[in-house]
Amino acid sequence: MLRFIFYLHLLVSVTSAGGSAPYTPTDSILLDCGASSNTESEDGRDWLADERSKFAPSNSESASFASRASRQDHSVTQVPYMTARVFRNNFTYSFPVSPGLKFLRFYFYPVQYSGFDGTTSFFSVTANNHLLLKNFSASLNLPVVDDQPAASLIKEFMVPCFETEKLNVTFLPSPYSWAFVNGIELVSMPKNMYVNHQENSLTFVGHKVSFDIPHATAFETVSRLNVGGATVGSVDDTGMFRTWFDDTPYIFGAAVGYTPSRGNNVTIKYSEDTPSYIAPAIIYTTSRTMIDDPQINMNFNLTWNFSIDTGFTYLLRLHFCETQLEVTEEGQRVFDIFINNQTAELNADVIHWSGGNSIPVCRDYVLFVPSEGQSKQTLWLALHPSKDVGSKFADSILNGLEIFRLNKSDGSLAVPNPQPESDPSPTLPSVGRKKKKYSLVMVITIAVFSGLLALSLFLCFLIYKRKVRRVKDSAASVQKSSWGQVPCPSNSTCTTSVSLLPSDLCRRFSIIELKEATLNFDDQFIIGSGGFGNVYRGCIDGGTTTVAIKRLDSSSRQGFREFQTELELLSKLRHVNLVSLIGFCDDHGEMILVYEYMHRGTLRDHLYKTKNPPLPWKRRLEICIGAARGLQYLHAGVKHPIIHRDIKSTNILLDENWVAKVSDFGLSRLGPMFQSHVTTVVKGSIGYVDPEYYRRQQLTEKSDVYSFGVVLFEVLCARQSMIPGLPKDQVNLARWARVCHARGTLENIVDPNLMGEISPLCLEKFGALAESCVRDVGTERPMMSDVVWGLEFALQVQEATERDMDMGAGGDEAMVIRSSQTSPLVLKAEGAGGGTTTDDDNEELFSVSGGKASESRSTISSVGRSVSRGDGDRIKSESVFSEFMNHNGR
Ligand SMILES: *[C@@H]1O[C@H](CO)[C@@H](O)[C@H](O)[C@H]1NC(C)=O
Ligand SMILES: *[C@@H]1O[C@H](CO)[C@@H](O)[C@H](O)[C@H]1NC(C)=O
Ligand SMILES: *[C@@H]1O[C@H](CO)[C@@H](O)[C@H](O)[C@H]1NC(C)=O
Ligand SMILES: *[C@@H]1O[C@H](CO)[C@@H](O)[C@H](O)[C@H]1NC(C)=O
Ligand SMILES: *[C@@H]1O[C@H](CO)[C@@H](O)[C@H](O)[C@H]1NC(C)=O
Ligand SMILES: *[C@@H]1O[C@H](CO)[C@@H](O)[C@H](O)[C@H]1NC(C)=O
Ligand SMILES: *[C@@H]1O[C@H](CO)[C@@H](O)[C@H](O)[C@H]1NC(C)=O
Ligand SMILES: *[C@@H]1O[C@H](CO)[C@@H](O)[C@H](O)[C@H]1NC(C)=O
Repeated sequence: MLRFIFYLHLLVSVTSAGGSAPYTPTDSILLDCGASSNTESEDGRDWLADERSKFAPSNSESASFASRASRQDHSVTQVPYMTARVFRNNFTYSFPVSPGLKFLRFYFYPVQYSGFDGTTSFFSVTANNHLLLKNFSASLNLPVVDDQPAASLIKEFMVPCFETEKLNVTFLPSPYSWAFVNGIELVSMPKNMYVNHQENSLTFVGHKVSFDIPHATAFETVSRLNVGGATVGSVDDTGMFRTWFDDTPYIFGAAVGYTPSRGNNVTIKYSEDTPSYIAPAIIYTTSRTMIDDPQINMNFNLTWNFSIDTGFTYLLRLHFCETQLEVTEEGQRVFDIFINNQTAELNADVIHWSGGNSIPVCRDYVLFVPSEGQSKQTLWLALHPSKDVGSKFADSILNGLEIFRLNKSDGSLAVPNPQPESDPSPTLPSVGRKKKKYSLVMVITIAVFSGLLALSLFLCFLIYKRKVRRVKDSAASVQKSSWGQVPCPSNSTCTTSVSLLPSDLCRRFSIIELKEATLNFDDQFIIGSGGFGNVYRGCIDGGTTTVAIKRLDSSSRQGFREFQTELELLSKLRHVNLVSLIGFCDDHGEMILVYEYMHRGTLRDHLYKTKNPPLPWKRRLEICIGAARGLQYLHAGVKHPIIHRDIKSTNILLDENWVAKVSDFGLSRLGPMFQSHVTTVVKGSIGYVDPEYYRRQQLTEKSDVYSFGVVLFEVLCARQSMIPGLPKDQVNLARWARVCHARGTLENIVDPNLMGEISPLCLEKFGALAESCVRDVGTERPMMSDVVWGLEFALQVQEATERDMDMGAGGDEAMVIRSSQTSPLVLKAEGAGGGTTTDDDNEELFSVSGGKASESRSTISSVGRSVSRGDGDRIKSESVFSEFMNHNGR
């Protein structure tokens, strides 16, 4: 098997560049570890001895010793490989550095040393806060060159040194082991060489998610190739001593393409965008293209493959330069770039990018590779001529390639050692081998199956327990069978947990899909969190669909019940005013629900404590109508009534068209059927819980009506349902609003933003309706169908007022008085369609990318008036599902 890591010792170059390199490093340290005097290596670079070195700690001689290799392979050079420093204890080299990203290279020659066996050494290496290597074995990581393990290896990293003047490199021996190193190299690089924080951010391949590489990111070089050419040694680099390897070992299949040669008769014209230090001219002079036959080219991909570690983000830099004399204009050679079978670029055109022949250009791509159980995976890079573009040559080209691995969010680059060849005896007959593998598969299969069985039994047990409890405390037990959700009629027939999950009703996601959608549940995609776990924003189906992904913490037992409830209920419910469940994932004991993504977040986020612009009154009414319809559907539209139990302004979400959708069914219960109520432990959110339910522990649909009444007042007054610091009678919004309503002073607590906008009659209707919802006695409260009707009526009143105003002179003040007399009761209700489509729906341009706030410019036009809001309202994506943030609310 081909491993790809750096294998070479320093290649002595024949075609010396001659003259000075384009870049002169400000920091350049070569440490010949274990050496007692400074020397010059074969390629003419000066190495410092590390004995009594100013970089080593004062106790260096007691914590370490210098040693000599007992043999010299013909492929390794004297310096730095023949001497090593061996560390018995933690040992830190401290290098002075200027700010910036630095190349840090380690040279290892794992052989027998005097007093030390380098082949069995395990150790970790850190650089400032970054764990670069963990329990690393140099001998297990030796790359294979021509089917033979190489003798030595170089590990190249780029480490950030922005806030420190020291780069501390620490060697930490693993237990019962010593650490060693033969050479350390530290080289600076030009500013913005690989990471340009000023430039536009990168976008993940296959996802429409932008990504700024954080300042504090460390990188490991996975591969650096001179595509279509021979290896370019470090002294021929542009001053940073990078080695560019021959790409042939990585070409996949027989389609190696063609390496056009113009010899050295090309002058690479470096540009401002691609300065001469980016890569040596030889990289751009050589290239690999397809062959001279469009027919064949259209049917193959020029493909490279690399073995990489999963669970990391990768940065790929592709170097291009058109040097063939025939290619001078845009549109002549146009091709597509695929990375890991995903489209990274369509219609790539080097001339278009660079501006002309012989002008180099490089393009960066970031790719997240989720961990899928296996720690290694193959990374594919494929080029194919674009189909739709009638380009002159059906061809593609690549000149150079660099691949870097980025540290995880904890700063670590550590990966496990490759498995040593499990079967060292090549003489073993293949049959025997197969058998061995087979039995291993058997063992794994059995283990997995017994695990699954145990899990499913456990799940059944939990569900059984839950059902029993239900039978005990309510009459709801009768209804279970009608839901078709009887997973375990008896313990004996229950063999799998799968049957209770409605995969026939909604999509079942694999954990891999969801990891990909959220870049392995990266924190930057969190849009809400709570006791149960986090909610993430993610892109599924190749980045075409944005979803909200609720991942339950496995430790949350309440979460498990809520997961089940929500899945059971939501998978059967379909209504425009209920958040739809797209699917779920229960791989590996995960409990994940996938919902449609609600771009505008929660209703509360548009009412108060927000930077969002205040909502116009009509829109508020439409939202209330939508939510009321959703609730009405729950109460009366389905076979058996469902009580939501947790209606509040954060559980009403808004999509991009301002359609309100009720969410979070985790607490929902089937409503009463044979009794007038369900007795349960009181659950819900403070400030919204029906006082009657609280007193009598009896749950009815009217409890939802109460909570909804609180929401109506929130919408009207734009204040929280509970504000503890206020005078006693004002703390609880529902109570305070009832007092004001009785006194006839409701308009005093109306959201000031609504002043002059809300017609008095509408306010009267709305206020009376809301007040009736929050009455103390449930039977005095209206049904949800009445609430819907009452809200629609209020909207008609408002619209009639505005129409009136429009016909009249149209003064802002005039509206208030005149409208109260003329309130035609017979009006078309066309505008009340749940707020789905109104005139101004499409006027808001809105996009959320990269988990960042984005600007929205909106024009909100009511009838006859138009208000332009371009004040850069920042809408936070975190706001979606924000009820999960204040989980104490329950
Ligand atoms: C070496 O460092 C590691 C990690 O910082 C620490 O756990 C360990 O105790 C240290 N060993 C010694 C001997 O100081
Ligand atoms: C280090 O790796 C070796 C082999 O991969 C393993 O046997 C050993 O247990 C590991 N040690 C630690 C501390 O992880
Ligand atoms: C590096 O080590 C020196 C001396 O041990 C210490 O003073 C300094 O704070 C360390 N710097 C960092 C960035 O860890
Ligand atoms: C080198 O290029 C020049 C023009 O760029 C051309 O005139 C000359 O013939 C070329 N020489 C060779 C050997 O290709
Ligand atoms: C590339 O693909 C070939 C053919 O499948 C395979 O033999 C080789 O190991 C792969 N190389 C890497 C680095 O994955
Ligand atoms: C080239 O690769 C892409 C992405 O993996 C794939 O979709 C396409 O079918 C391939 N084309 C050919 C001709 O193999
Ligand atoms: C990409 O396509 C190759 C064949 O071209 C296939 O072997 C490989 O499994 C695919 N990789 C992924 C991640 O789909
Ligand atoms: C790399 O690690 C640092 C912490 O040391 C972190 O701030 C940064 O986000 C990480 N980079 C990536 C790409 O996750």
